[in-house]
Amino acid sequence: MIPVVLSGGSGTRLWPLSRGQYPKQFLPLVSGNTMLQETILRLDGVAGLQAPIAVCNEDHRFMLAEQMREIGIKPAAIILEPVGKNTAPAVAMAALSARSEDDVLLILPADHVVGNRSAFHRAVAQAELLAKQDLLVTFGIVATEPETGYGYIKRGETRYGEAYKVAAFVEKPDLQTAQRYLESGEYFWNSGMFAFKAGCFLRELEKFNPEMLEVCREALRAAKPDLDFVRLDKQIFSTCPSDSIDYAVMEKTDKAVVIPLDAEWNDVGSWSALWDVTEKDAAGNAIKGDVLTVDTRNSYIHSANKLVAVIGVENLVVVETDDAVMIAAKDRVQDVKEVVDQLKKLK
Ligand code: GDD
Ligand code: MG
Repeated sequence: MIPVVLSGGSGTRLWPLSRGQYPKQFLPLVSGNTMLQETILRLDGVAGLQAPIAVCNEDHRFMLAEQMREIGIKPAAIILEPVGKNTAPAVAMAALSARSEDDVLLILPADHVVGNRSAFHRAVAQAELLAKQDLLVTFGIVATEPETGYGYIKRGETRYGEAYKVAAFVEKPDLQTAQRYLESGEYFWNSGMFAFKAGCFLRELEKFNPEMLEVCREALRAAKPDLDFVRLDKQIFSTCPSDSIDYAVMEKTDKAVVIPLDAEWNDVGSWSALWDVTEKDAAGNAIKGDVLTVDTRNSYIHSANKLVAVIGVENLVVVETDDAVMIAAKDRVQDVKEVVDQLKKLK
């Protein structure tokens, strides 16, 4: 099985720490290792793994290569995208780079947390077996809230061991729909991790999105080798349609199965999610860096440089970095994206 690490996202919901030049997957957010390193290290002990393939933006190539080197990993390939075209082309590039169509790819976003490694390993082993039967495997998390930032997977009747045939896959429904799904008890959240044979994925992509596959093939054919990097042809790749694997393939395929995953998974999609997965002091504060608190509870406080003192507050997020300070109510952290939008307009 070949781990494929998707590392091209911009992670703007963790502004001001996560930035264009330094997105969250390259930051040590929950441990001493970066999220990218954790993604690889978490596989330690999984049998039969080959060297990983990483797909990232070309601006991040040295950071990615260095972080892999730090943990003693030599990737089979580091595929460099001149522009982000979302996850479907990124996965297609990895699938086209596999040596055999029968190689099973384990697609891993580079910015998730998994608390229970052994449960994760068990699910990965099952996923590999199912992928070998020409199925597209998703990992489903039991839905507990009507979260609209996730894909939803309706389980079907047919069983494959502990897995279910996917009856429907709905990427990012609106709140009302998500609420309905939650109440029905029949839906999982899509974790964004997948397992399938390279050839199996490419055949499905060809069915639903032949143009994307063709452009990917061309951009890879014209790619220039550069040290250990595979630098995709900019002119060609720029013409690639942009779409996520979820919309481009998973919503449409009839070959999907879902393995329930109960492994303390978290996609760390916001500051409050990060607070959830970070170790806290007796008052419920998650603290990073040089911070003093007085009568402060259930807050996330991060200092990169200055001493940060916080007095008499609750449920706050305070983040100090080189060039920005953000203070937010913990239940309003989704609105960080409004700040990022305003900043984009100013540029
Ligand atoms: N190489 C590359 N190129 N990677 C990318 C690109 C790209 O253009 N765009 C995103 N990624 C990487 C991100 O860095 C992340 O690791 C992963 O692909 C998923 O992208 P996100 O942008 O974080 O997707 P999402 O969170 O909105 O939605 C996906 O994940 C959810 C769970 O976290 C979907 O799969 C949802 O269905 C799922 O519920
Ligand atoms: Mg995500």
